[in-house]
Amino acid sequence: MQLLDGKKTAEDIKCEIAAEVEKIKAQGGKVPHLAALIVGNDGASLTYVGSKVKACERVGFESTLIKMPSTTSETELLKKIKELNENSEIDGFIVQLPLPEQIDEQKVLMAVDPRKDVDGFHPENFGKMALDMTTFIPATPFGILELLERYGVETQGKHTVVIGRSHIVGRPMSILMGRKGFPGNSTVTLTHSYTKNIAQITTQADIIITALGVPNYLKAEMVKDGAVVIDVGITRVADDINPKGYVITGDVDFENVSKKCSFITPVPGGVGPMTIAMLLKNTLLAREMRIARNE
Ligand code: GUN
Repeated sequence: MQLLDGKKTAEDIKCEIAAEVEKIKAQGGKVPHLAALIVGNDGASLTYVGSKVKACERVGFESTLIKMPSTTSETELLKKIKELNENSEIDGFIVQLPLPEQIDEQKVLMAVDPRKDVDGFHPENFGKMALDMTTFIPATPFGILELLERYGVETQGKHTVVIGRSHIVGRPMSILMGRKGFPGNSTVTLTHSYTKNIAQITTQADIIITALGVPNYLKAEMVKDGAVVIDVGITRVADDINPKGYVITGDVDFENVSKKCSFITPVPGGVGPMTIAMLLKNTLLAREMRIARNE
């Protein structure tokens, strides 16, 4: 069994991006600038956004964090998005999800200028992704592809089973693994809450990508020998012994599943750090695309 070390790989990617930033600076150019919008006080979301901003500092990007109260109306949020769309200092921005229930997520994602949509959530970018066009790929699926590529995990002709059809992870992942090229050329089964006999499907899988958010869901008897397992789950589970009061737990029963795997991602230190690194990569791409448009 080999660990797909997301922490180390994300560090490598951040070093590569930092080197690009140094080049931009040496040429007297403007460094990439990422903005993050967060509405409300959800602890996990605040932590994720904080990590994104910190990562910007680490690679030499500029960053702006905009916090709005949980009572923010849809109109107020759309106004803020318009400002960010029009602000020429900002190369890309994200609206952290989930949003409070009074706000229509679809309306918000549609309001983001696709050229600044470094999350790749706008329908225009999602469509381009599905059509193999150059665009922003959602950071978590992008991070998984990058891990598979850097570790040389064979995907061609393999059966990939994706668990969960969220717009952020499962759905795009199912599209990307079936695309032409590497990583890709895989035969994909997308499973969800209405799928019958999931274990019968997962035991046929060469590659399992689980993005369910149910701690320790994937058990050893659901996995065949030699499988590749990618764990996207990051659920906070209460733990009195831990100073934070919780531990981050993946979807995979790591102790038992890892014994059967050829490759597996740990939690924490697997997909999570890769998501942040790929958001930075998308922001660098946004900057480069603006230069190409003479903006
Ligand atoms: N919430 C959970 N994952 C993500 C993500 O990748 N981007 C945004 N904007 N919100 C999220």
